Amino acid sequence: MKILVLGCKGQLGRCLNDQLINTDHEVIYTSREQIDIADFEATKSKILEFSPDLIINATAYTAVDKAEEDQKTANLINHLAVKNIADICNQLECWLIHVSTDYVFDGNSKVPYKEDDRNQSSGCVWRN
Ligand SMILES: NC(=O)c1ccc[n+]([C@@H]2O[C@H](COP(=O)([O-])OP(=O)(O)OC[C@H]3O[C@@H](n4cnc5c(N)ncnc54)[C@H](OP(=O)(O)O)[C@@H]3O)[C@@H](O)[C@H]2O)c1
Repeated sequence: MKILVLGCKGQLGRCLNDQLINTDHEVIYTSREQIDIADFEATKSKILEFSPDLIINATAYTAVDKAEEDQKTANLINHLAVKNIADICNQLECWLIHVSTDYVFDGNSKVPYKEDDRNQSSGCVWRN
């Protein structure tokens, strides 16, 4: 399987590198320098060029407090750019693993989360 890890220089990206190092799968790691997910067209053409079977998205805007003032960038990276990646995966018929956060889902559910689940973390206020 050909796996593309986006955001390889972050905490999750580096952990994935440690975990996937002994796999037989072909793994391609990209940082912001190779694929900036805010650039939708470049992201699309590079992903189509790699043509992976699975993308693991380890990119994120993680400055939680800063996101309150810079909602535009947070929305771009954590929402719109992820939708772009999902659309590309749909086109390629490729799997996408996108990691959530305990700021949204606290991990205490006894059943697997679904895409349309509402947030359950007690520290969060859901805004429609
Ligand atoms: N770390 C944890 O313990 C933990 C726990 C639960 C969930 N998570 C989730 O895992 C995901 C990753 O978290 P993390 O802790 O690994 O965050 P992180 O260390 O802040 O890493 C985020 C990575 O995303 C990259 N990035 C940001 N904007 C980008 C863009 N436009 N294009 C390409 N790359 C971009 C950053 O690159 P630059 O360095 O160039 O900015 C950075 O390497 C998040 O969704 C987070 O909620 C993490």
